Amino acid sequence: MNLKELIEERYSVRAYLPQSVEREKIEYILECARLAPSASNNQPWKFYVVRDSAAMSKLYESYHREWFRTAPMAIVVCKDTSASWKRTASDGKDHSDIDAAIASEHICLAAASIGLGTCWICNFNPEMVSSILSLPAHIEPIAIFPIGYVDTTKGTSPIKRRKGIAEITEWI
Ligand SMILES: Cc1cc2nc3c(=O)[nH]c(=O)nc-3n(C[C@H](O)[C@H](O)[C@H](O)COP(=O)(O)O)c2cc1C
Repeated sequence: MNLKELIEERYSVRAYLPQSVEREKIEYILECARLAPSASNNQPWKFYVVRDSAAMSKLYESYHREWFRTAPMAIVVCKDTSASWKRTASDGKDHSDIDAAIASEHICLAAASIGLGTCWICNFNPEMVSSILSLPAHIEPIAIFPIGYVDTTKGTSPIKRRKGIAEITEWI
């Protein structure tokens, strides 16, 4: 499968089987996240692998959706604002969100490439997640990624609804 085919195949999975995910597969996904590019190569991220059922139960509370409760595990991607590159020469923009987002999409694509489903979750309660993971002030949760085998009885890959190239592109 080439990259475009993988991108076409990935979709937000909102129904998982209870089957646990093998440790080698989680490590493969983490390795793909580790290799992501980042501003000035600062790698201002931290990945929290949540597999413990008691910890998962607490995580479900930070994002109340029944489908999320079907996920057997999750990776919480955090940004480290103490390590991120800032555009100090001009506006001081902190690039940690961008860096964490790149690593995050590596997680999604890596999972899809080995037959696992994921879904970006940003609509969680950040204070709750910081408390559950005992995060220090400079580490902030960016996204939660439930990961697991897809329950295909609850739906499959939807048709991609995307704007057309002409609408989103300017050739100058
Ligand atoms: C930054 C970001 C935040 C998102 N947050 C949520 C979320 O909180 N809950 C959810 O169900 N989906 C969330 N999504 C998934 C999007 O709804 C989904 O990617 C989009 O509708 C396109 O569908 P697809 O991923 O199946 O191609 C998020 C996606 C991104 C990129």
